[in-house]
Amino acid sequence: MKHFTTVHDLDNLDEAIKLALELKKDPYQFQDLGKNKTLLLVFFNSSLRTRLSTQKAGLNLGMNVIVFDINEGGWKLETELGVIMDSDKPEHIREAVPVIGKYCDIIGVRAFAKFENREDDYQEKIIQQFIDYAGVPVVSMEAATRHPLQSFADHLTIEEHKTKERPKVVMTWAPHPRALPQAVPNSFVEWMRETDYELVVTHPEGYELAPEFMGDLKPEYDQMKAFEGADFIYAKSWASYNDYGKVLSTDRSWTVSDKHMAVTNKAKFMHCLPVRRNMIVTDSVIDSANSIVVPEAENRLFSAQAVLKMMLDQLK
Ligand code: CP
Repeated sequence: MKHFTTVHDLDNLDEAIKLALELKKDPYQFQDLGKNKTLLLVFFNSSLRTRLSTQKAGLNLGMNVIVFDINEGGWKLETELGVIMDSDKPEHIREAVPVIGKYCDIIGVRAFAKFENREDDYQEKIIQQFIDYAGVPVVSMEAATRHPLQSFADHLTIEEHKTKERPKVVMTWAPHPRALPQAVPNSFVEWMRETDYELVVTHPEGYELAPEFMGDLKPEYDQMKAFEGADFIYAKSWASYNDYGKVLSTDRSWTVSDKHMAVTNKAKFMHCLPVRRNMIVTDSVIDSANSIVVPEAENRLFSAQAVLKMMLDQLK
């Protein structure tokens, strides 16, 4: 695995899950692997879980870790090629990325969708420039269209909590006051389609995900029907893909509530966090015994550690 931006970068998904579970049992077993290796985490956007879990994952493997909030301590970056740099951006990503690559052995990058132009976001212009110019392996810590470390942790969490071989997993859209990227649902759907789980995606009309992620999966527009018999409910808000970046609905009947959970098979409730209570999910559902949002966040550590371990093995 040269870079990690999607489930398709893994050589073997089952082996990756097995490795993450082994690391969870004994997180310090490969402390010598990262000796004298540096992990540099570049954040273009805010983070709590990704920042802390990826940092800790590197430390558990014995790596040196540098965290760089590029928009706060760094020069404002120009990311377009061929422009006359007479704006407020004094440094070009074309120089910044290879320079960053000289100070580390692995780079983690978080760069969300900007919602200015769908083609630019879906071409992954920022993380792709890291891959092209850094000269070292790159790990996506959430890019414009995918959040693979999150999906890896989600898969791990479902494996730990499932009570049948082929659980029914439902990804549901939920209302939110702001336009949020499609990275989490895209990535989750793409990842789940690599498993044997029964996957259902439900959202109001207008919130269809990009065809490249849905493949032949058709959305269920009736949320209650989608929830029937579900073993896992994964809630997330996202902005429209077709009417790119627009909030088309804030219909609170889509907020996951006890009424919704009642038709499931005592489903576990999941969300990547941060979550807006009583918009995405009611207090009663997220505070219930079936909510696994904290163990899900805990697994971010082991998904990150598994990815870094696989990359370090290749640097040996
Ligand atoms: N789920 C997730 O990526 O959380 P942060 O945005 O806090 O890193």
